[in-house]
Amino acid sequence: MSPTIVQAFEKQADHERLASATYLALSHWCECEHYSGFAEFFKKQSAEETAHAAKFYKHLLDRGITPKLGPLPAPDAHFKDLLDVAQLALELERANSFGIHAAYEISVEEKDYPSQVFLYSFIAEQVEEEAWADKMVAKVRAASCAGALTYLDRHIVKLLTEE
Ligand SMILES: [Fe+2]
Ligand SMILES: [Fe+2]
Repeated sequence: MSPTIVQAFEKQADHERLASATYLALSHWCECEHYSGFAEFFKKQSAEETAHAAKFYKHLLDRGITPKLGPLPAPDAHFKDLLDVAQLALELERANSFGIHAAYEISVEEKDYPSQVFLYSFIAEQVEEEAWADKMVAKVRAASCAGALTYLDRHIVKLLTEE
């Protein structure tokens, strides 16, 4: 693997780990605010992002590279409201897609075919990730009173994972 593609993979793995930490922080905030449905959903996202990072590391290791782990900023712990939280999730997913596309561009430039094939599933998955995040923002925005938010919290996992 060329140093540029190794660096791109390490950078994306850092992104995935940061997303995991941020989702954990979102889950904690939701739990504290008694949005237990959202808390559960974000906890699951946190585990998924850790698994994504692990896939990047495995790809590097399988090709004889010892990956470097970058330092991560601490995620925020306090948020204005649930809309703020949902918007942060959407931003996170958009940033993740951006990073994956950047890694893919480099793998094309470097003619690194295994990296390109590896990234396909991530490119496809980000479409789904951005779709649920987008839907979450819309649903939270539409829930204008406390009662509507409570209803949404009770059904959010089902709403975002089963449709
Ligand atoms: Fe991810
Ligand atoms: Fe994600």
